[in-house]
Amino acid sequence: MKFLYLSLVLLFLTNCKDAKKSEYIATEDKEDSSKNISSEQHPGKKLMETECYICHNPKASESSRIAPPMIAIKKHYINSNTSKEEFRKSMVNWIENPSIKNSKMPGALKRFGVMPYQPYPIETIEQIADYMFDNTIEQPKWFKEHYKQGHGKGHGKGNNKGMGRKNRNSPNSEIDYADMGLKYALSTKAQLGKNLMRTIKEKGTVGAVEFCNIKAITLTDSISVINNALIKRVSDKPRNPKNKANATELGHINTFKKLVSEEKEINPIVEKVNKKIHFYYPIKTNSMCLQCHGKSLKNIEIATMATLKVLYPNDKAIDYDVNEVRGIWSISFDEKSIAVE
Ligand code: HEC
Ligand code: HEC
Repeated sequence: MKFLYLSLVLLFLTNCKDAKKSEYIATEDKEDSSKNISSEQHPGKKLMETECYICHNPKASESSRIAPPMIAIKKHYINSNTSKEEFRKSMVNWIENPSIKNSKMPGALKRFGVMPYQPYPIETIEQIADYMFDNTIEQPKWFKEHYKQGHGKGHGKGNNKGMGRKNRNSPNSEIDYADMGLKYALSTKAQLGKNLMRTIKEKGTVGAVEFCNIKAITLTDSISVINNALIKRVSDKPRNPKNKANATELGHINTFKKLVSEEKEINPIVEKVNKKIHFYYPIKTNSMCLQCHGKSLKNIEIATMATLKVLYPNDKAIDYDVNEVRGIWSISFDEKSIAVE
């Protein structure tokens, strides 16, 4: 727990809205543009976005990220001699056994800690590897410079401080609240995700349900306290009645559901009410979630179902499929809190 506090505090101390850096672009290699249509339809693309972007999100700003972006992985795993087959194998090898010994990215390992083990079907990883090998991957704007500077130790600090100072003297309009909110959401998600996956691995799904029951709200609360922000996960179909969305939140859930079903790009919703910033961002399902939020018996085992029934007699959070809006992050913080450096 201490480590969690420390790393979060560090994360937020180094924050100070890298407004510029939080923008991102999808780059296109020349030789790839002819493949655009097929790359959009490649099943590996969607799999990568639902399964890996929870942590490897290219939309996270340089200082808020919790794992390297996929493009960095591609650059470390593929050189001019690497065949697709070799790349596929090395990805599968990593996913099956993420460990210090297997790492090709010691810098990432040191900064983020070893990637938590998560069970994925081999075909899923092969599809993702296939897609990554053949296509250009969304690249954060800060990435090129960072990569050129050789794994960016000097990159962060000076830059951030300068920007912080500038922002303190200038009106709030320059502050990127969407980026701040996203930072809170992604790091809370990473902590929940890491803990959840570790518990599933060590204690099985039933044990993990009990873990969520005791820990989920406590964890989000403690992260809230550190940041002087109120961090909530709410849903239109809550498992825990305490996580029930209010009217405003329900409206935003519907907006996000619509965007997801139309496969449109999703950006956070940010509102300012009485000097408070309210931030909303969808929480989507991947295959891992279905063992507790999917269809009973098909995805959720009997023992898990039984435990859920005891702990949550009014559970509404089942029958989900992958890539659906399970709920949203609803985060609020003071307009002023940014000035604290
Ligand atoms: C819960 C967070 C999380 C998820 C989800 C996740 N990763 Fe990672 N991954 C990390 C972190 C943290 C690192 C950096 C530390 C490391 O290298 O172990 C990493 C590193 C990697 C590396 C480089 C490993 C090395 O050190 O050589 C590969 C390859 C990788 N991830 C692939 C994937 C793929 C493919 C997916 C989706 C199927 C995925 N990851 C999903 C957290 C995650
Ligand atoms: C091991 C079982 C388990 C897994 C796997 C799991 N959850 Fe949950 N989830 C729970 C439990 C239990 C709760 C209720 C926690 C509480 O009491 O606060 C919950 C609550 C939630 C909530 C808060 C709203 C509510 O319904 O109470 C969201 C959002 C959520 N889960 C999303 C996800 C997503 C997204 C995934 C996959 C990335 C996932 N969960 C995976 C068991 C699980």
